Amino acid sequence: MYKILVQLLILSLPTLCCSLPLSTSSRWIIDEPTGARVKLTCANWAAHLEPMLAEGLNKQPAARIARHVAEIGFNCVRLTWATYMFTRFANLTVAQSLTGVGLEDAVEGIAANNPGFLNLTVVDAQRAVVEALVREGVMVVLDNHVSQPMWCCGDHDGNGFFGDKYFDPKEWLRGLSTVAKLYKDTSMVIGMSLRNELRGDRQNEADWYKYMQEGANTIHRENPDFLVIVSGLYYDTNLGFLKAKPLGVNLNNKLVYEAHWYAFGTPADKWAAETNSLCAAAARTARDNYVFLTTGDSPFPLFLSEFGIDQRGVNEADNRYISCLLAVAAETDIDWALWTFQGSYMLREGTLNLEEVYGVNDLNWDRPRNPAFLDRLQLIRQLNQEPETNRPTYYIMFHPQSGQCVQIGKTNIILANCKTASRWDQHQDGGSIKVAGSPRCLGVAGDAEAARIFDDCSSNGSKWKYVSSSGLHLGAQNGEGKYLCLERNASESTLVTKKCLCVGDNLVDFPTCADNPQVQWFKLVPANV
Ligand SMILES: *[C@@H]1O[C@H](CO)[C@@H](O)[C@H](O)[C@H]1NC(C)=O
Ligand SMILES: *[C@@H]1O[C@H](CO)[C@@H](O)[C@H](O)[C@H]1NC(C)=O
Ligand SMILES: *[C@@H]1O[C@H](CO)[C@@H](O)[C@H](O)[C@H]1NC(C)=O
Ligand SMILES: *[C@@H]1O[C@H](CO)[C@@H](O)[C@H](O)[C@H]1NC(C)=O
Repeated sequence: MYKILVQLLILSLPTLCCSLPLSTSSRWIIDEPTGARVKLTCANWAAHLEPMLAEGLNKQPAARIARHVAEIGFNCVRLTWATYMFTRFANLTVAQSLTGVGLEDAVEGIAANNPGFLNLTVVDAQRAVVEALVREGVMVVLDNHVSQPMWCCGDHDGNGFFGDKYFDPKEWLRGLSTVAKLYKDTSMVIGMSLRNELRGDRQNEADWYKYMQEGANTIHRENPDFLVIVSGLYYDTNLGFLKAKPLGVNLNNKLVYEAHWYAFGTPADKWAAETNSLCAAAARTARDNYVFLTTGDSPFPLFLSEFGIDQRGVNEADNRYISCLLAVAAETDIDWALWTFQGSYMLREGTLNLEEVYGVNDLNWDRPRNPAFLDRLQLIRQLNQEPETNRPTYYIMFHPQSGQCVQIGKTNIILANCKTASRWDQHQDGGSIKVAGSPRCLGVAGDAEAARIFDDCSSNGSKWKYVSSSGLHLGAQNGEGKYLCLERNASESTLVTKKCLCVGDNLVDFPTCADNPQVQWFKLVPANV
């Protein structure tokens, strides 16, 4: 089963990257020599904790882990690192680093799986991990995650903002400069991010501008080929202040912004009761805080460098939020990095061999924790929008809960792999959804009947309105003037029309609702490739 899955995924891989270096053009990351768009579809891989070593090397050979990254369909890794590894501990060997924090078991694991690593310095071990990825054609973004090697992030962990206990700006700049130089000639290392999740009592905009300018200029000076990736305040959830005042650096088309989006902070029962309106609010916050950067007169690429869910499916806040996020990420075709690839940590917050339930890998790093979840990333893995093409824009109808896309089949309208999605014309709220290049359109059927294609698109049954605040929930009126909504019939994978969930006939959200409206969420995603 797993083998077959991997083969299918390989067949659906986008052609791997590019000649390098990368650069930016308007809101897109492009391959500098050819001008073609390159979309970063990355996984995070943690290497910033106490051992100062990429997680998992005690479980599987580095080459195998790197191959797995590529096989699953990620074209890049956001590899995290701690400043002190370069500024204080660069000469420590991996064996010394591990035994220094009591990880004799991990030493044994590495001796079994990656014996060559034990006598490398921690810095050379990072280089060896990068080389393993490069050999698989995987691009690398080096993310400065913390100063003091440890799990991240809390308000009071000393790593949160410039001037915190472990966060000396000068030492940070020295670390950035060292790393930028070290990878000057490794073309698949395509950029660096300045600092993960700034936060805590000291955070303020004035220092943000001062130090982000210095950090960006430092990297650019040492390595003008690198993309320089700049994060915001409040755990990298807010770059809204850039509306009033740009960063004020000139990096010669290398500047990219990054943001993080999780379900944290809203309890699961609230997400479950108010799914439509919470999705609307979360998407609005994302737009106001960072997605806006991709629009307007002076747009930039946006790298959604962390998002993710408990892949066991047990967290209902995660389960609801992720559909909402996937709709925004697909619509905007932004670059991204999933949190996370690692299935375990050698040591995290005092616990040995801690399982990472947000991880693509299982505890032993030998199989995917949840292949169905990876399948839901299929549309955002695709490059849907090519800049400056004269091909017309069409729309793909995406169902984020399943990750599938709507396809007009021989007898029914079905949900299938997004590679074979049908193309639709742009839809205006209250208007018809036409088959691209055709007068025909999507039409409502009776309650719990298969959706249809209509030849005549003038009736109410082909006028699709957004019925809930989510902006993802399409309904049209049946003969009696009642709204029915598009819904995926999971058992047949067909498109049916059913009573709209969690909204009244007056098209007002129920304040609370016991149903899960995600089964009725669809997003029309623009594409031109
Ligand atoms: C590592 O060792 C070299 C040579 O012994 C020394 O010059 C350098 O300062 C050391 N680096 C660190 C971070 O301790
Ligand atoms: C690592 O170095 C030690 C001491 O220098 C040596 O005894 C050992 O054989 C080396 N191990 C490997 C795997 O190279
Ligand atoms: C949808 O699925 C259910 C089973 O969950 C099935 O009984 C029904 O006939 C299917 N088809 C339609 C058009 O609703
Ligand atoms: C179609 O919709 C309009 C506006 O909602 C309504 O006034 C009209 O009665 C509907 N027509 C039919 C045949 O249901």
